[in-house]
Amino acid sequence: MSDISNLPNSKKIILKTRPNGDPEVSDFDIIEEIAKAPDDGEVLVEVQALEIGAWIRTTLNETAFHGSTPIDGTIPALGNGKVIISKSEKFKEGDMVTGPLMAQSYTTMPADFFTKVTNPEIDPFTQIGVLGVTTGLTAYFGIYDVGQVKEDEIVLVSGAAGGVGVLVCQLAKLKGAKVIGIAGGREKCDVLINEVGVDGTIDYKSEDIDKKIKEFAPEGIDIFFDNVGGEILDFALDNLRDRARVVICGAISQYSHHDEVDGPSLYLRLAEKYARMEGFTVMHFEEHYEKASKELLDLHNQGKLKVPFHIEEGIDNFPLALQKLFTGGNTGKLMVKV
Ligand SMILES: NC(=O)c1ccc[n+]([C@@H]2O[C@H](COP(=O)([O-])OP(=O)(O)OC[C@H]3O[C@@H](n4cnc5c(N)ncnc54)[C@H](OP(=O)(O)O)[C@@H]3O)[C@@H](O)[C@H]2O)c1
Repeated sequence: MSDISNLPNSKKIILKTRPNGDPEVSDFDIIEEIAKAPDDGEVLVEVQALEIGAWIRTTLNETAFHGSTPIDGTIPALGNGKVIISKSEKFKEGDMVTGPLMAQSYTTMPADFFTKVTNPEIDPFTQIGVLGVTTGLTAYFGIYDVGQVKEDEIVLVSGAAGGVGVLVCQLAKLKGAKVIGIAGGREKCDVLINEVGVDGTIDYKSEDIDKKIKEFAPEGIDIFFDNVGGEILDFALDNLRDRARVVICGAISQYSHHDEVDGPSLYLRLAEKYARMEGFTVMHFEEHYEKASKELLDLHNQGKLKVPFHIEEGIDNFPLALQKLFTGGNTGKLMVKV
């Protein structure tokens, strides 16, 4: 399509009210309008798949690290899509691109916001769920560069059955570590054992977390990879081995009350165990994306990364998908097929 007199109808998800706690479907509205014609330097992209990431919740606050979404503003989201009209030399019509498409079915933005998908033969869900910035790359830099996992070490992962978690578990296993995954519910723990290949699981909703960590790691853990925060972080701090590393990837249990975060009370264990706690965002590693992406693609092509997906159908279900992320409704990477 390059006919700007015949632009498609586009649906977008906007913020109606700032969530009070976890996001709910009623916090959002769906608006339908004709897609904007691209100006010079812009492209019109048909959105195919969007990732549902916990960072989106933080943008619904009035002040936010990733930028605040205004009331009536379109919800930010990363994803993949196809260029259908190009007014830029960077892309031609039919090119597959990735970037900040936002929660909408068509996006018109400067071409410079997007990167060309270099392996268009790989489906968009694998692109996002395995090779994406907020999935594969986050897991890669978190467990390899920040965690510096080594053979025979014991790695405890919270949010283990989620998008980042399942990849962290597998990347750690590939280095010869022993991996214990924490997740909510027996079903998720079974997926971790049978599909992801971890060595042990802790169902934090029904099991004694401290007792189970001690069973798996009587001498303590070498790495805690934290996606969740809150009390799980304290249990991990209380079970560190000497020279342990605590990797702060995220704290999804805290995002819905960002002004009153529950911090760890056992941080002095870091001193007692000559351990360190280090946070990161994947963007700190931007200059190494290319190398890491290549490695992840190789591992994927060799069948060494098994990633369950949870896909919601249709842009209308974007708010429901975001709600599910905060109620544990997903196993593996949560995405919306637009
Ligand atoms: N540092 C970075 O650059 C970076 C990049 C991407 C993501 N992250 C972080 O990585 C973490 C995982 O993100 P993701 O996109 O892969 O999400 P995800 O793990 O696929 O999904 C969220 C999962 O978190 C658990 N959860 C939700 N609310 C919880 C609560 N109150 N207490 C305990 N567990 C809760 C649920 O699993 P259960 O059913 O098991 O509870 C839910 O399924 C997030 O903290 C995110 O912010 C960081």
